[in-house]
Amino acid sequence: MSTISEFVPTRSTAEWQTLDSAHHLHPFTDHAALSRKGTRVITHAEGVYLYDSDGNRMLDGMAGLWCVTLGYGRSELVEAARQQMLQLPYYNSFFQTAHPPAIELARLLVEVTPAQFKHVFFTGSGSESIDTVVRLVRRYWELCGEPKRTFIISRENAYHGSTVAGTSLGGMDYMRAQGGPPLLMDGHVHIINRVYWEGIDAWQEQPGIGWDYARARKAGVNCVIDNIGTYGAWNYNYSPKQALRLIETAHRFAGKHADKMAIAFSVADARSIMASGRVAVFLGCESGIDHEGDIEVLGALHRLGLRTIQFATQTGYNAFSDSALAALQGGQPTDTYKGITERGRKLVAEMNRLGVLIDITHGTDAVQMQLIEASRAPVVASQGRRRSKRVSSSEDAIWAARCTAVMFVSPCFRNSS
Ligand SMILES: Cc1ncc(COP(=O)(O)O)c(C=O)c1O
Repeated sequence: MSTISEFVPTRSTAEWQTLDSAHHLHPFTDHAALSRKGTRVITHAEGVYLYDSDGNRMLDGMAGLWCVTLGYGRSELVEAARQQMLQLPYYNSFFQTAHPPAIELARLLVEVTPAQFKHVFFTGSGSESIDTVVRLVRRYWELCGEPKRTFIISRENAYHGSTVAGTSLGGMDYMRAQGGPPLLMDGHVHIINRVYWEGIDAWQEQPGIGWDYARARKAGVNCVIDNIGTYGAWNYNYSPKQALRLIETAHRFAGKHADKMAIAFSVADARSIMASGRVAVFLGCESGIDHEGDIEVLGALHRLGLRTIQFATQTGYNAFSDSALAALQGGQPTDTYKGITERGRKLVAEMNRLGVLIDITHGTDAVQMQLIEASRAPVVASQGRRRSKRVSSSEDAIWAARCTAVMFVSPCFRNSS
């Protein structure tokens, strides 16, 4: 049998490194820096160990790139691959053809995955899978007669691969910053807070990371949710007033830039604003407004344009809901009501009636569950990770089961903290 050395010459580490630098580009790598340092050349592996061209043995804690979970040098895998290479090394599935290994593997995957998954589409990598899924989802909505459903919302710091679709769908700023405008983007921002506190003109590009209309527009964004945040004004007396100041700021700002943007009060509004080439802005509220569950106050806020509100606060329980962050920020118990109160339930019904989206972020598990159960309309979870980092919960399961959307959150707080 042939050996690998018949095809790959033996060289010194320095020779490999020179050739690598001359001809081979690495992903996620500063090529010039790596060329100065010299690539580590992996020559062979056995079991859980890797060996480099200098004879060093290393434990491969990462299992390749998480894909060699069975270990290196498994003779039964080598033999299966050899047999297959002899019998049929390749054939495509494009032209009404298939081959037994693909059919059998698809059958096996359907067998071991949850019942709703009935078909398999084979790809060569995670990034390619993401790209394919984006196309499939868009095509699905097109066939359903809703071709405008093209936006995909992802989570802060999400990783979905390194192709254009993967980085567009991912939530890593530095990856999005490379290679031009992303294909997809959505989320909520807090730019009106900066307009209010710092007096910035958010239609001018702002230095550093963060969000502004100028860059967003350039990247093709035409609809955003601006979540006002009543930071520093946390109780039932201060937070509604601060919310009003920020809502007023938003309307004034939109009025001043009426040629480029407008506040949307409905989906129809948003569509016509976007059709006129401007950015449609829905107003939302971060971290709850303690309006005491008063539906008249809610009605007024809705009339002013508020279309999504975080039900629980970031700081403690309010008049109608516990907060998951109460203990961390206010030293309060997180289970004062064991979820939401009767007043909270009336508020849910009124938010549903008015069309104000309920954002379950910062609620305890009980709050989130009760909101999901009580709401007739879908709910959103705009900042789940932030919460789940601090408080262990079953929220991922809840989201998977019932939530409509998880938003990507841009780092646009007043001080970018
Ligand atoms: C969720 C997710 N999507 C996509 C990818 C990209 O996969 P690949 O490196 O095979 O392109 C990864 C890789 O870690 C991933 O974890």
